[in-house]
Order: sequence, then C-alpha cells, then structure tokens
Amino acid sequence: MIPALLDCDTGHDDAMAILMAGRRLDLRGVTTVFGNATVADTTANTCRILELAGLAHVPVAAGAAAPLEGTFVHESGVHGMTGMDGHDLPPPAGGAIDESAVDFIARNIDATRGLHLVATGPLTNIARVLTSFPGTRAALAGISIMGGSTGQGNATPVAEYNIQADPEAADIVFNSGVPIRMVGLNVTRQVAATPERRHCLRSLGNRTGQVVADLLDFFSDRLEERYGLAGASMHDPLAVAALCDPDMLRFEAMEVSIEREGAHTRGMTVCDLRHLCPLTLRRQREPLGCPNAEVAVAVDAGLFWERFIEVVVACP
Ligand code: RIB
Ligand code: CA
Repeated sequence: MIPALLDCDTGHDDAMAILMAGRRLDLRGVTTVFGNATVADTTANTCRILELAGLAHVPVAAGAAAPLEGTFVHESGVHGMTGMDGHDLPPPAGGAIDESAVDFIARNIDATRGLHLVATGPLTNIARVLTSFPGTRAALAGISIMGGSTGQGNATPVAEYNIQADPEAADIVFNSGVPIRMVGLNVTRQVAATPERRHCLRSLGNRTGQVVADLLDFFSDRLEERYGLAGASMHDPLAVAALCDPDMLRFEAMEVSIEREGAHTRGMTVCDLRHLCPLTLRRQREPLGCPNAEVAVAVDAGLFWERFIEVVVACP
C-alpha cells in the first residue's frame, strides 16, 4: 500500500478520511490543524476516530492553531462547537505525541521514499514544511488536497473553506512544484450521504457504522439547513480516494492560482479550464498557462460508496 500522512482538521468528513486512509493506505501518521474547530479539538477528535477504528497505534502530531497571516475565528455552524458534534464517543484515551506536526511531517518525508501527503484542512502545516524544509519539495511523491473548486465556493460564493482559511499557505503549496491532485467542491458535492446511504451504514451492525451514521446525520442536517443539500458531502474521504482509488475520479491538468487580494474573491482557486470542452470537461487542446495541478473534474459516486462501505465493514 502507498505510504502516506494525513493532515486534517477533524471534523465529520475528516473522520471519514481517517477511516479510509487507515484501511486503504500505509498510514504512517496523522497531523492536525485548526479549521472545523480549534486544533486542540481537531486533535482530540482525530484520536477518538483512530481509537474507534482500531488504529490507536497511528501517531498523531498537533499543528497550527491559526493561519500563516491573521487569526483563526471558529465558525461552529456546520460542524458544531467541538468540530465533530453528533457522536457518543468517550474522550480519547490517547493524545498527540510531543513532536510538532511540521517536524513530524518533515522527518517522515526524509525517512520514507515515495511518501504522499493527503490534506483535508487548511494548508498551514504543509506550507510551513515546504518553507522550512525546502528539500521536502523534491522528496515528496505528491499531495492530494481536498480544497478549492472549479466552480461554486462554500465559505464564500467563490472560495472553498480549506483554501479560504489560509490563502497564503495554499499559494505556497500550489506553487511548490510538488505534484498536486486537487479534489474540490465541484466533485465532492456530487457524493452525498443520502438518508438511504446512512441507513445502509447503520445497518452494518458494527460500532463504526453506527458512529459514522450518527456523524453523517448531524453533518447532513447542518448542510441541508445551510445549502439545501440532500445529504452531507463526502469532501475529505474523496481526497484519500484520489490517492488510493484514483479510478473513481477523472483528473485534468491545469493551472490553479490562489486569489489573495480580491475583496470578493480572496481564497478562490482560479482554475484555467479554457482547454476543456465546456460541456464534457474533457481536454480539447494543450492546457494554457503553467499547469501545476491535476484537478478532479468528474467522480463515480456509486463506486466511492462501494469502497467506503468496504472500509467501514472492515472496522470494529
Ligand atoms: O469545504 C470543505 C472542507 O472544509 C472539508 O475539509 C471540511 O472538513 C472543512 O474542513
Ligand atoms: Ca476537513
């Protein structure tokens, strides 16, 4: 299996990403960042999910509490006060190791040939690694990012939350030269945890299926209230799938720029789609500009759910 680290702001969909990464990748560790909640809460949530999934041996290293520039303002509307409301899990038995997320990531990149990163929160930790340890840029095999969008935003009309939470960090990562796979809202919102799919998870009969269904019930209710979506979008596990199951997504190479100045557009991923057919999003000519990412433009939602159910069945 592919060796990987997961950097996340555990939250409901990050929890799904942890489950998928733990079963479908050679998960060497998880690092945490602010985002869906404070980094203290995202770290505790991460430990809870690893313990639930029988992965308590996977090390957790805590990271940034705020973006590279500016401050962190916790918006609890979607994920609740803890960042992962809606479960009945006890406080975690374990906690983070003493090493910082940045040092942990840099050390593992140096020690592990072919290591990949999967990022499902703001990119602050990863930007710090690429800046403080420039040798990691050539050593990293790739970064799979849940972030951005080729179309609508969620945090703002044009910006997706993970990018908008730290645009300076995103700019560093997207211009680092490391191979990037970007999985944005344009595909993740096509993979919804409908009531039928949540019922299927609950009917699996194992503890993990019950907790996942509870989490998705909460997350779905919030997203339905806010955006009218028919079920929680499986944002973060799709970024894991981009690495372990790329057959469920279609990618196109393109230039992605991070808007940092616009009064109305800060945090937007400006994707150059001009070489794609507007109807099919299939390539019609060579990409314009300087392509710096493989961007997901299509997804097989049914195949995702098949693979995700297999993951949950394999858990306690
Ligand atoms: O915009 C969706 C992203 O923001 C997901 O990663 C979700 O967990 C939040 O971090
Ligand atoms: Ca996340």
